Amino acid sequence: MSYQTIIFEKKEKYVLITLNRPDKLNALNKQMFDDLDDAFQKIELDRDVHGLILTGSGEKAFAAGADIKELNESDDRSGKLFSEYGSKVMKRLAELRIPTIAAINGFALGGGCELTLACQMRFASENAKMGQPEVNLGIIPGYGGTQRLTRIVGKAKAMELILSANMLNAEQAEKIGLVNTVYKPEELLPKTEEFMKLILSKGPLAVSAAVECINASEELSPLEGLEFESRKFGEVCGTDDFKEGTAAFLEKRKAEFKGK
Ligand code: COA
Repeated sequence: MSYQTIIFEKKEKYVLITLNRPDKLNALNKQMFDDLDDAFQKIELDRDVHGLILTGSGEKAFAAGADIKELNESDDRSGKLFSEYGSKVMKRLAELRIPTIAAINGFALGGGCELTLACQMRFASENAKMGQPEVNLGIIPGYGGTQRLTRIVGKAKAMELILSANMLNAEQAEKIGLVNTVYKPEELLPKTEEFMKLILSKGPLAVSAAVECINASEELSPLEGLEFESRKFGEVCGTDDFKEGTAAFLEKRKAEFKGK
């Protein structure tokens, strides 16, 4: 499938997706959801892809939200479908068993902010602005914002952001744990790619198992989560990568992981 609204670049071991409607501040329209859904599915099925970075084209925005022009045509029935479809695409992203990082290069508002929340990590440029301004439009976040934002920043901060529709700058977002790190705009993508390469230098099966366990903590009870972790720990102990990693440590050399 060739994409109309995103740029899909397969790098050595990871994919870089650039949201690409810069004249509309990369607003998420139906076509972009179709493109992202296909891209996430492709990544899910490709054993050679071990990481994903998402960013926006242009200097102003990661994504300024769902496309308000399309949204404007919704009624109660179609609005539910609108939310369900977007949520399904975000869920596909959130459930990828590889590290995912949003490189937030400007506005990440509404659905744009929710897209970053479905990533496992968020790196931001100094000019980033994040928020859930839906109540300004008489709606609420519809792509998982009320759920994921609450888990990431806690109930009180999520209430504050969603009920006020206030935007946070990068420094404020970092302070409440909404973004991991803030970089100068020109450093954002190189530093994000550098960090992705650091992760990709580790044992890929271990990285994937850690991602699964951390994701599972959102679904499972504490006891079930610990059982899940022990099961995954056992699985990675049975891999060649584990033998290589420990042997390399004992032989004082760099490990060469094969993902087996
Ligand atoms: N949906 C559709 N189009 C959007 C959009 C959105 N969410 N956000 C921006 N655009 C479009 C604008 O309509 C404009 O298009 P035009 O040039 O054809 O008129 C273009 O992108 C540039 O946006 P503009 O508003 O002129 O830029 P700005 O720098 O003055 O303001 C924002 C930037 C982000 C503050 C402002 O665009 C905004 O508030 N956007 C909506 C944010 C929002 O409510 N998102 C949640 C949606 S559920």
